[in-house]
Amino acid sequence: MASIELKNLRKSFGAVEVIKGIDLEIKKGEFMVFVGPSGCGKSTLLRLISGLEDITSGDMIFDGRRVNALAPAKRGIAMVFQSYALYPHMSVFDNMAFGLTLERGHDKQDIRRRVEKAADMLQLRPYLDRLPKQLSGGQRQRVAIGRAITRDPKVFLFDEPLSNLDAALRVATRIEIARLHEEMDAVTMVYVTHDQVEAMTLADRICVLRDGLVEQVGTPMELYETPASLFVAGFIGSPKMNFLTAERAEAHGCTTLGIRGEHLTVTPDGIWEGKVIHTENLGADSYVYLDMGEAEPIVVRMDGASASRSGAMLRVSPQPDRLYRFDAAGKPIH
Ligand SMILES: Nc1ncnc2c1ncn2[C@@H]1O[C@H](COP(=O)(O)OP(=O)(O)O)[C@@H](O)[C@H]1O
Ligand SMILES: [Mg+2]
Repeated sequence: MASIELKNLRKSFGAVEVIKGIDLEIKKGEFMVFVGPSGCGKSTLLRLISGLEDITSGDMIFDGRRVNALAPAKRGIAMVFQSYALYPHMSVFDNMAFGLTLERGHDKQDIRRRVEKAADMLQLRPYLDRLPKQLSGGQRQRVAIGRAITRDPKVFLFDEPLSNLDAALRVATRIEIARLHEEMDAVTMVYVTHDQVEAMTLADRICVLRDGLVEQVGTPMELYETPASLFVAGFIGSPKMNFLTAERAEAHGCTTLGIRGEHLTVTPDGIWEGKVIHTENLGADSYVYLDMGEAEPIVVRMDGASASRSGAMLRVSPQPDRLYRFDAAGKPIH
């Protein structure tokens, strides 16, 4: 178990600075998720933690000890990537044991015990004799995770481990990773994704990154309820927050007014009117898209049973205590 502290961390590739001064504390045993758009520096930051990438300036502290110059193998970390990188000619067992066979001090019995324990945690026990090609994508990714577990790391680093899986497997493997964190509650996990749903469902805390800087750090609900910027407001939550401008914003004393689809109520005396352009029926919920003359359609979350005809006019009102007001710089007005 390790705490990780990043102090004014910077990373440049040649003349280009991609990590621009990051301060962050990751607690022992915490599940921290880095989320942000493609290219914002998530993978680079994870590689700085792993030691696979050199730090340009600033400090990386593990358990109070500066590790800037410590080799990756000495950091007590294990990493799982988007591509599973399994050895195709080795059985699941041998793939999971491979890292251990390279390390000193593991006899056959110790290796078997560790592999079987990891296999049990990941429900892979029935597959130990199979080859990777005889597994589904989700099972292969679990083998890659299992290979990391057998090494008994203090810190687990994941870089978009679910990106290669189809939607159903992604959800199943996501639940597996969440369970794993509960079982290995002494292990610190740092998880990179561009998918805010993964971030919301897995994280103890989320660190939203934008263009090499931290935009906000907080629990999923803190980010959802009190976004520190227009950027976070638009990034966290699904469907994304609606933004209203011009007179509708001015009437509330701001440049941009934000309201989530779940906080709009359809009512005959609603303060805003829009034309239904599309309805998505998801079963439990429906999302009704309204043209209100804003840059993007306004989405209203309604009961699954409710139906709205395209072309119909609908009046809605925001729940007043759920309105978000932003200034021209995208900062919240309280
Ligand atoms: N080895 C490298 N050499 C030069 N530029 C790099 C290198 N690795 C990453 N970058 C650049 O750093 C920025 C951040 O990349 P990355 O950390 O991979 O982003 P993310 O994982 O958030 O998509 C990108 O602009 C990328 O092109
Ligand atoms: Mg990346």
